[in-house]
Amino acid sequence: MSVPTSPSSIDNAEQCDIGFIGLGVMGKNLVLNLADNGYKVACFDLDQTKIDAILAQDEEERMVDKPRVVACRSYTELLANLKAPHTIILSVPAGKPVDHVCHHLIDAGVQADDIVVDTGNSLWTDSVAREKKYRGKFVFFSTAVSGGEVGARFGPSLMPSGDPYAWTRIESIWQAIAAKVDPETGKPIESYEPGKPVTEGEPCTTYIGPVGAGHYVKMVHNGIEYADMQLICEAYHIMRVGLKMTPAEIAATYREWNQGILNSYLIEISAEVLDQHDPESGAALVDVIMDKAGQKGTGLWTAVSALEVGSPAQTITQAVFARSLSSFKDERVMASQHLSGPAINMTQSDSKEDVIKQLHDALYCSKICAYAQGFQLMSIAAKEHGWTLDFAEIAKIWRAGCIIRAVFLQSITKAYENNEHLANLLLDPFFIEQINHYQANWRRAIASATIAGIPCPAMSSALSYYDSYRCAVLPANLLQGQRDFFGAHTFSRTDKPEGKKFHIEWNKPERPQVQIKK
Ligand code: 6PG
Repeated sequence: MSVPTSPSSIDNAEQCDIGFIGLGVMGKNLVLNLADNGYKVACFDLDQTKIDAILAQDEEERMVDKPRVVACRSYTELLANLKAPHTIILSVPAGKPVDHVCHHLIDAGVQADDIVVDTGNSLWTDSVAREKKYRGKFVFFSTAVSGGEVGARFGPSLMPSGDPYAWTRIESIWQAIAAKVDPETGKPIESYEPGKPVTEGEPCTTYIGPVGAGHYVKMVHNGIEYADMQLICEAYHIMRVGLKMTPAEIAATYREWNQGILNSYLIEISAEVLDQHDPESGAALVDVIMDKAGQKGTGLWTAVSALEVGSPAQTITQAVFARSLSSFKDERVMASQHLSGPAINMTQSDSKEDVIKQLHDALYCSKICAYAQGFQLMSIAAKEHGWTLDFAEIAKIWRAGCIIRAVFLQSITKAYENNEHLANLLLDPFFIEQINHYQANWRRAIASATIAGIPCPAMSSALSYYDSYRCAVLPANLLQGQRDFFGAHTFSRTDKPEGKKFHIEWNKPERPQVQIKK
């Protein structure tokens, strides 16, 4: 381990409440958030510039005489500066660095009743494995964090999971630093002033369940985030290409939408992005940003998990594929010169205003389906992994702080408060009524875009999900016939108990049916 050599500002007179390792963008802001809430934090990072940066920021922002942050030069020094039993928070990149730090803490003398909390975007199965691996050495606890750098600084949404006793020891810390919501309106109570944290309202944190559950829920949050972002991008694309609207006009449309049922952080920031000018050319920045999407993997993990547990989450999965397809830029440019589409004006039969209204409704209905898929996935995974997830609470803690925060999460909270066993969000009376009201325009928007040759994979997949879910009879009967034909895979009959399996002797001229005995 390389040990920073420049002077530290260790204050041995008073021990710290929390140890913090990893002072990247998220880590630094979480430390300042903890400090604003009255916690004294001992910090360590291998990069001395990051330690210097946090000391400087603490100096600049603190309203008390003494430093709220203590810089440490090693893991041993970090432990020596903490009140026992120790609470140590990690904000290091997911994967190997987490174990690397855990091993250093063991070498430095961490104790069996010390709590080490991983707050990175870790794969949930890694958290489960780590809890087992470090059992007896320290208590490995995890807390998934959403909200980006501003959320970390002024109030994120926190999804903790692990040992319930450890949770009782850290709960009040998490409640203090989490985003807050007005319980009546479901709207965030915000303050972006250093030193003045929000102290009233409902904190956006709740104990999710056994270790791994919190990171699973955060993973699905990110899957929904991918879908939400892609849907907004598809609406933008249709307005830009189909309606020939300028980025500024689309920004204005999003601002208008943000006043109503589509009110959300992602709509708000999309308007900001669309209004931004390129500092170099003066053109709309969005027109010079390369159309190749990046991804760090949480959307992919959600899609993989949905496939593994057999939960239909096609809008989330389409959003991941849409990012993948975007990355084939050169191939798309080449294909655009060979593959033709229709030359159709979207406003031939509907006015521009009508199409914009249709897109609004399509975005809303598609969004409902994306969330329905995310909650359905969590419900199926919970059964598979033996977790008891409280969906009303999960929706509640996503109302502020996190990236998918939206007014509409209040309705999801109510849906699960009214019926904790709701099989699917689409079956909640409020959402039934909403989709009935808006679906004609949803269909029309997708039909018009399809006829005009403008892709809207996430919106169309959401509509297919809705139409498939409400179908009492799907063509899987023919599919079962096909499977039985070439592979003798058997089928159940609608007129016999489902456990009984049948097979047709397809190769015999008279094709007799046989019942398969188990
Ligand atoms: C959040 C975000 C955060 C991060 C993702 C984005 O909830 O705060 O989801 O976790 O921005 O890593 O991931 P991609 O790079 O895959 O878009």
